[in-house]
Amino acid sequence: MSNSNHEFPKPLEIPNSSSKSEQSLNFFRNQIEQHHRRFQASIPLIASENLVSRAAMDMFTTDLHNRYAEGLPGSRYYEGNEDYDPIELHTEELAKRLFNAPFADVRPISGTAANISALFSLASPGDKFMAPELAAGAHISTQKFGAAGLRGLTTITYPSIHETMSIDTDLAVKAIHTEKPRICYVGQSVYLFPNDLKPIVEAANEVGANTMYDGAHVLGLIAGKQFQDPLGDGMNLITASTHKTFPGPQHGVILANKDVELPNGKSLHKTIRNKVFPGVHSNHHLHKVAAFGVSLAEALEFQEDYAKNIISNAQNLAESLWNRGMKVFASDLGFTQSHTVLVDVSERGGGADVSKRCEAQGLIMNKNMLPGDTSAVNPSGIRLGTPEMTRLGMGKDAMDEVAELIHLASISGHESEVRERSKSLKNQYTEMKYCWKTEENAYTLPNWSEITNFN
Ligand SMILES: Cc1ncc(COP(=O)(O)O)c(C=O)c1O
Repeated sequence: MSNSNHEFPKPLEIPNSSSKSEQSLNFFRNQIEQHHRRFQASIPLIASENLVSRAAMDMFTTDLHNRYAEGLPGSRYYEGNEDYDPIELHTEELAKRLFNAPFADVRPISGTAANISALFSLASPGDKFMAPELAAGAHISTQKFGAAGLRGLTTITYPSIHETMSIDTDLAVKAIHTEKPRICYVGQSVYLFPNDLKPIVEAANEVGANTMYDGAHVLGLIAGKQFQDPLGDGMNLITASTHKTFPGPQHGVILANKDVELPNGKSLHKTIRNKVFPGVHSNHHLHKVAAFGVSLAEALEFQEDYAKNIISNAQNLAESLWNRGMKVFASDLGFTQSHTVLVDVSERGGGADVSKRCEAQGLIMNKNMLPGDTSAVNPSGIRLGTPEMTRLGMGKDAMDEVAELIHLASISGHESEVRERSKSLKNQYTEMKYCWKTEENAYTLPNWSEITNFN
């Protein structure tokens, strides 16, 4: 059923073992330019992706990229950090300010590294760990084969409400009392509706568990005060990646409420510091810390508006798809209160087939499991996200056109029309919003260095 991609050029042949070294450089440059052109001509709908601002991206190519800064500002194992240390300190201050957090560690290099650091801080092998079900949108970090398993934890899942893919709070509270876990974790990769956190925190306190909120997907919505306030609701920690609804560099962060004593008598804040380094990291990618700092500074100015528009775009997209007869998840509840929309496309060929066909027509999304699915490779659904399109300034009318294109792309017979319409819609939105403005477009081709000693 899949159509071939008749518009986008095929990748170049990968240089073979007898090719000259410089051919490899040309190959990488060419592929990256092609990647930029593809994104320039497509509608990006991956819920976990976003565009980092140019001001933040500038930090990537500085000398910070070449350095180490093991330890903490003022107490490093390496010399040469005199100028970098204030950058890390200021980034931490900005994170604490934006999230109203008593504590921030900006060194984790990803959401997963933040989760591993947190799990190693809060629990010991053999402990029980409560998390949502995979089928209710949980991340792989919560599983035996992810971070939880790596720490030797036994994952017990909260009962969930399948209609909303969220935790059933009443039953979860009962389960916490029965199971008495070491950690109560909340957070999802398909995160449509906020969870009711206070009863979970209360039950966790009653059984002596610590609480951890994985805000990887919704960090930007929390920053913009549009989703929920996990620290305000009493969760001990937020772990997150910094590049989904929060439009920063690919990096991670741990935010914490006021310090508490862990069962081993140690301070939670100090334990996190020690697990982040030397436990999980050595190099913490200093250029990304600086870029995160810039993104936090931008977020203090722009994130509230941005987060509001991400959510209203998701709701409008969902409604427009629904009006075209597509089976959007949670229709009784307004579809979504986040950046994510879930659609059952089993009647249109299933998630794998629909997402592949859409890609060939200039609509980039991912297949996704729905409750009741057993195969992650061939699931019934697609997951759509609005962070990147909102970042480019799209609003209600554009969402309606995107919905029309997804509808047409998921039934056969409109391939070249959809391809052209996707491209032409996208061409109207090239400038990044909700950040400091620069001359470059979102997908401007890289400015390659000139090589002067090619043979
Ligand atoms: C809920 C959740 N936690 C953690 C992660 C991992 O984040 P990263 O990709 O930054 O390691 C993801 C990634 O999508 C996620 O959805």
